[in-house]
Amino acid sequence: MSDEVHIEVECDADIVQARAGGRALASQLGFSRTDATLIATAISEVARNIVVHAGRGEIVVRKEDGTDRYGVVVIARDSGPGIADLEAAMEEGYGTKGGFGLGLPGTRRIMDDFDIESAVGSGTTVTMRKWRVRDELERLREKRHQMG
Ligand SMILES: Nc1ncnc2c1ncn2[C@@H]1O[C@H](COP(=O)(O)OP(=O)(O)OP(=O)(O)O)[C@@H](O)[C@H]1O
Ligand SMILES: [Mg+2]
Repeated sequence: MSDEVHIEVECDADIVQARAGGRALASQLGFSRTDATLIATAISEVARNIVVHAGRGEIVVRKEDGTDRYGVVVIARDSGPGIADLEAAMEEGYGTKGGFGLGLPGTRRIMDDFDIESAVGSGTTVTMRKWRVRDELERLREKRHQMG
């Protein structure tokens, strides 16, 4: 499996695929089952928002490298109607189209970093990350591995 998953999201089956792809990548990167599940849940929330509120868009999940940590970054992008009041949308209970308004605030809690950009008429981009600490033993093993 490569270090990147890219999925066009338009229907429920795509949400399932984005969720599964994100989970697989997270497991491959060494995230615990619990963390992989949280990442998968966050991905399905933003994917569902794309389908319900924007109609279509895309999700990219890829590895992000740091010195002492590494992780996954999830980018969910669409060119839908955008969100007029972002602050309100990030509050619990602000739901349109019959939603409970829990998806975005819940997703922000689940992930380590969360950023949302939106402009009315041009779309919405959510960028979020979850990190994993690279411990000393892991760093040593990687070094040995590189030396062959
Ligand atoms: N990609 C998007 N494009 C346009 N509007 C969006 C998008 N994502 C979220 N929103 C707006 O932000 C609101 C809050 O989103 P959130 O996911 O928290 O709640 P919800 O989707 O309405 O309900 P729930 O996720 O609990 O089923 C939505 O009701 C919608 O108005
Ligand atoms: Mg939602």
